[in-house]
Amino acid sequence: MKDLFGKAILDFQTNNNPEDLITSTSISEEDEMSVSYLFRTYDEMPKIEQKAIQLCEGKVLDIGCGAGSHSLYLQEERKLEVTAIDISHNAIETCKLRGIKNATVEDFNNLDSEQFDTILLLMNGTGICGKLIKLPEFLNKLKALLAPDGQILIDSSDIIYMFDEDEDGAYAVPADSYYGELTFQISYKGQDEIPLDWLYLDYNTLQNAAIDNSLKCELIIEGSHYDYLAKLSL
Ligand SMILES: C[S@@+](CC[C@H](N)C(=O)[O-])C[C@H]1O[C@@H](n2cnc3c(N)ncnc32)[C@H](O)[C@@H]1O
Repeated sequence: MKDLFGKAILDFQTNNNPEDLITSTSISEEDEMSVSYLFRTYDEMPKIEQKAIQLCEGKVLDIGCGAGSHSLYLQEERKLEVTAIDISHNAIETCKLRGIKNATVEDFNNLDSEQFDTILLLMNGTGICGKLIKLPEFLNKLKALLAPDGQILIDSSDIIYMFDEDEDGAYAVPADSYYGELTFQISYKGQDEIPLDWLYLDYNTLQNAAIDNSLKCELIIEGSHYDYLAKLSL
């Protein structure tokens, strides 16, 4: 990984000529994404993220924290004990510069010594699972990090709307894979990042997988564009 996502975040934080990120997926054309979005305030967050922030309690683990906007709000405004982790060195450096006390470079798969009351995964939190086949392993890992009365707050979107629909209402989705399995590519300042598997999950598929893996699953709130926030618990 060239850590271009993190480089864009750190450039924005340090005012080092930040530029927009160019994003594309296996089913969509190039699009520009302003890095400033990753520095959103509570008021600028979508309502599903605001709801997630309101529901956080106890010891919080923010997985894939990016620039740390959720962690910062939880630490400063909600006065919660937050651990922010990300695999991006540049993102974690940014979190530290922003004042997040407990921010570390870590792959959540390698955590095993602590349990948390709230595990937060936001901005398509199911994305880092990568592929549908890995969902049981992903959920089991999250489960192991969860305190007995804890909660996992995770968001995603049903991207079926991105596929053509015929007159009978059938969608032209791939026959050989789950339609939410995308490859995600970013470019920054003329450099291309290694493409990564990125999973969008419709709520029913998440709920079925959660039940299969002995987790309760609750639909907390739906957003304005096929997105939703779910709560998983033991
Ligand atoms: C879409 S960004 C979300 C950032 C942030 N949560 C937000 O809402 O602004 C996903 C983040 O997950 C991080 N990430 C990807 N795989 C990870 C892993 N296995 N463990 C921890 N972080 C990971 C990426 O580096 C990236 O910063």
